[in-house]
Amino acid sequence: METTHRVFVGDARDLSAVDDASVELVVTSPPYPMIEMWDDLFTDLDPAIGDALDAGDGRAAFEAMHAQLDRVWDELERVLVDGGIACINVGDATRSVDDSFRVYPNHARVLSAFEERGFDPLPDVLWRKPANSAAKFMGSGMIPPNAYVTLEHEYILVFRKGGQRRSFEPGADRRYEAAYFWEERNRWFSDVWTEVTGELQALEDDELRERSAAYPLEIPYRLICMYSAYEDTVLDPFWGTGTTTLAAMCAGRNSIGAELEAAFLETFDDHLAELPALSRSVGRTRLERHREFVERRREAGESLEYEAEHYETPVVTAMEREIRLWAVCEVVDTADGYRAEHAPLSLE
Ligand SMILES: C[S@@+](CC[C@H](N)C(=O)[O-])C[C@H]1O[C@@H](n2cnc3c(N)ncnc32)[C@H](O)[C@@H]1O
Repeated sequence: METTHRVFVGDARDLSAVDDASVELVVTSPPYPMIEMWDDLFTDLDPAIGDALDAGDGRAAFEAMHAQLDRVWDELERVLVDGGIACINVGDATRSVDDSFRVYPNHARVLSAFEERGFDPLPDVLWRKPANSAAKFMGSGMIPPNAYVTLEHEYILVFRKGGQRRSFEPGADRRYEAAYFWEERNRWFSDVWTEVTGELQALEDDELRERSAAYPLEIPYRLICMYSAYEDTVLDPFWGTGTTTLAAMCAGRNSIGAELEAAFLETFDDHLAELPALSRSVGRTRLERHREFVERRREAGESLEYEAEHYETPVVTAMEREIRLWAVCEVVDTADGYRAEHAPLSLE
């Protein structure tokens, strides 16, 4: 199998390099409005944002930042196929502006922006980030009533374009081979995700990942497996360090990424050297976990009725029989991105 991965330096408010109805899934995390690390970026996009912050008008700054994101959401509406899915990872912001503390509900604003564009909201996921610092409660004291709850979760908002689900030809291999295991379904389709960072081998953390607010590979990898089939194309308009593209390569899907800051693209090649090993590890972890699940199930005296066609393992449902995982064997530079060669993954 071969997949293609286009990446370009550019402003996602204009995705004219991406054709209408050419993307089946969007997985992305925008710069979060009213989080200070993104103030300069938003002010570059619209200088009125800096003016509003300087004037202490948090509400106007919040709205003006979202107006910039809205232009990207317009583009997503254009490039997604009917029935295509958009998964938006976003956190709310707490901030004092002009001595007034409040929460800025980014998730609610993004949700209404997508509804206004005709998307149907689907059940979302709360991603609970590990928080082990005692310092997080600093300043809240022990005396009521003026302390604030600490935000320890982000949202993964999920939307479908148009009213209809995507249709496939009956028995479409590219869909059935992209099946996930029953026990994965039970974890992935839960509405609260915890300990996501520890799930898959992480890429080396570096200053750049910090500066880009990169999400863990597990987040886009799960979403891609949950909401796309083989041969589909996944778009990330806020590409950052390219975690979505790495996840798409591991999952055997095509991808497109747009990123304002050229510096992020320059370091991406370093990660590609690790990609074949990473993708094998991701796939093997899934297969090994499935075997452990089978062991536990047998020990509990429960039977598994079906056999997987491509792996020597039983599965719980008929829908899992054709499941097939791929590992990247090589990534080749192309004129506008990369081509990844994949081989079927085995445990041997
Ligand atoms: C939260 S980060 C995304 C991090 C990414 N998910 C990762 O794992 O590395 C948001 C990214 O969007 C980029 N960005 C912000 N506004 C943009 C725009 N209008 N067009 C393209 N990229 C933009 C920022 O430079 C930043 O890298």
